[in-house]
Amino acid sequence: MLRKRFNKNIKKEVANFTQSIAEDRRLFLYDIWNTQAHNLMLHRQEIIKEENLKLILKYLEKAKQEFLNNEFIFDEELEDVHINIENYVRGKGGKKTGVLHTARSRNDQVVTDTRMLCRDEINNVIENLINLAGVLLELSEKHAGTIVPGYTHLQQAQPTTFGHFCLAYAGAFKRDIERLSETYKRVNLCPLGSCAFAGTSFQIDRKFTAELLGFDGAVENSLDAVSSRDFAVEIISNLAIIMSNLSRLCEEIIIFATSEFNFIEISDDYTTGSSIMPQKKNPDVAELIRGRTGRVYGNLINILTVLKGITYSYNRDLQEDKKPLWDSFDVVNSSLVVVSGMLAEMKVKELEINPDIIATDIANLLVQKGVPFRDAYNIVADFIKSSDFKKLNENLSEFNIKLTGEEIKLLTPAACVEMRNSLGSSNQVEVLRLVEKSRKEIDSKIRDLENRRKKIDDARLKTGKLVKSYKKH
Ligand code: ARG
Repeated sequence: MLRKRFNKNIKKEVANFTQSIAEDRRLFLYDIWNTQAHNLMLHRQEIIKEENLKLILKYLEKAKQEFLNNEFIFDEELEDVHINIENYVRGKGGKKTGVLHTARSRNDQVVTDTRMLCRDEINNVIENLINLAGVLLELSEKHAGTIVPGYTHLQQAQPTTFGHFCLAYAGAFKRDIERLSETYKRVNLCPLGSCAFAGTSFQIDRKFTAELLGFDGAVENSLDAVSSRDFAVEIISNLAIIMSNLSRLCEEIIIFATSEFNFIEISDDYTTGSSIMPQKKNPDVAELIRGRTGRVYGNLINILTVLKGITYSYNRDLQEDKKPLWDSFDVVNSSLVVVSGMLAEMKVKELEINPDIIATDIANLLVQKGVPFRDAYNIVADFIKSSDFKKLNENLSEFNIKLTGEEIKLLTPAACVEMRNSLGSSNQVEVLRLVEKSRKEIDSKIRDLENRRKKIDDARLKTGKLVKSYKKH
């Protein structure tokens, strides 16, 4: 089949059906780096000659430059990025460069490229999550004392602060960062050198290529390395959870911005007008994030289903891992960027709160005066329905207590919030304490991100230096 491909002897529709050029474009630079590292290792292990290595490195560099200048021509009949690059080098460098694919297979090659791309994208997602958490913590601080209604069943339930609300979502996105950082450890392991699946009789050094490519180590079992894609499932699961959190947040923004709720105003930059109703300001950005959540959930089912029935080691089905991965990264990253902007620019308005919202707090006051909670609950329920203050005190007489109008008046929504001082409550002091704590946690996640990226950059530099050293002599 492969020989046929090189001879371009294959039916057009089959070639078109089996190729993966569109998805593979994204792997191009990773594939170059992969091939540089592999060949540097082959020479270091005395498997290929220096003169051949030099030719290979020279034309890999040329291919890279052409790609960066948008001049690299992909041939669909050459199936994928791997054969396109190999063919390019052989076409320019001649027969001697045919050693380039020694002790490697596309099976270990493609999954190595994919893991390299995934680790960069995970870092991008984490960076965007850090920014979003930062925006939410800013809002939490700014609105630590801004009283808004809190909801259960989307019915006004108890007064709370907008800061407490924002802090809740900051917590969710912080966990998203933690999940992805855990996943990263399993992603950043190198399959290269596993060859088709069984390893090789050449004296290769897998640890050296893993190091040149910035991996933390190798996926050791060569069959596991080429066959497994649970890392992809794990990544998309995490991305689906992020979308679930984003979608809920967007739904809240959409509802709070309606004229019925009206305590948030979304900036014009994140809304669109109606083509027919001049007064409309539609929250399209938030709606699209909610809508695209479906795409990422779909991608998760997609990858799970691709994997469900395929035997170890490689089957061509595995080529289908890329679309759901790339698409999920793109949806999540773009959503995170716009949602951060939308939140940073939105206005929170002072709101008239339904006075009934303090009902729990009246009941709590009665409990403090000695009424068992269930009785207090029933008496207050009756009072909320009837607004009959006289009847309220009649009901209280059996407990030998009285409530004055003054006492109830003191129970403003703000006072109610202030009284809630339990750990993690909506109280302003508690919100501000958690903002500080969360900022420190986020700072340490920023350091982790920098370290992960530095390790990749250092490895790229080291490979680059080695490549250069074969240019001079
Ligand atoms: N384009 C293929 C993929 O994405 C590369 C691996 C091909 N391997 C093979 N044995 N046909 O999975």
